[in-house]
Amino acid sequence: QASSIPADRVPDMEKRKLLNLLLVGALSLPTGYMLVPYATFFVPPGTGGGGGGTPAKDALGNDVVADEWLKTHGPGDRTLTQGLKGDPTYLVVENDKTLATYGINAVCTHLGCVVPWNKAENKFLCPCHGSQYNAQGRVVRGPAPLSLALAHADIDDTGKVLFVPWVETDFRTGDAPWWS
Ligand code: FES
Repeated sequence: QASSIPADRVPDMEKRKLLNLLLVGALSLPTGYMLVPYATFFVPPGTGGGGGGTPAKDALGNDVVADEWLKTHGPGDRTLTQGLKGDPTYLVVENDKTLATYGINAVCTHLGCVVPWNKAENKFLCPCHGSQYNAQGRVVRGPAPLSLALAHADIDDTGKVLFVPWVETDFRTGDAPWWS
C-alpha cells in the first residue's frame, strides 16, 4: 500500500502544475499588455522649460506664474495646485513674500485624505481622523505616521513654477525622504 501513495499523487501533482502554468499565463498576459501604457504614463512630458519638472497648475488648470501668483497670494499663504503625478500640492508663500522653494503634498499619510490648511491654527488639519501637520507639513499628531511629502518648487526661465521630485534629505526631520 505504501507504494500506491506516490502513484496516487503523481496525477494530482501534474494537474496542479498544469493549473499553475495556466494561472501564471493568465496573470502575466494582461500584465504584459498593461506595462506599455503604464511605462509611458511615467515618462515626464516635455515641459519646454529646458529642464525636468512638472508645471504647477492652478485651480483652472493654468500654469502657475510665480509673479502673478504672488500678486494674489500674500505672506503665509498655502494654496493647492496640481503637482507631481497630479497630486494636490500646496504652494507656500514665505513671510518675505517670496515663493518657498518647496511644495507640500496634501495627501494625508494616514489614509490619503486631502488635508486642508487651517490658517487660524497655523497647521494642516486632516478632517478624516484628526492628524495634524505643522506649517511645513511635518506631522505633529497622529494617526498619520509620516510627514507630508515634499516637492521642489522651482521657477523656470519664463517665470513658471515647476515641481521637481524631492529626493534629498527631508529638511524638517533630517531623515531620508520616505516618498522617493
Ligand atoms: Fe488623514 Fe486619516 S486620512 S488622519
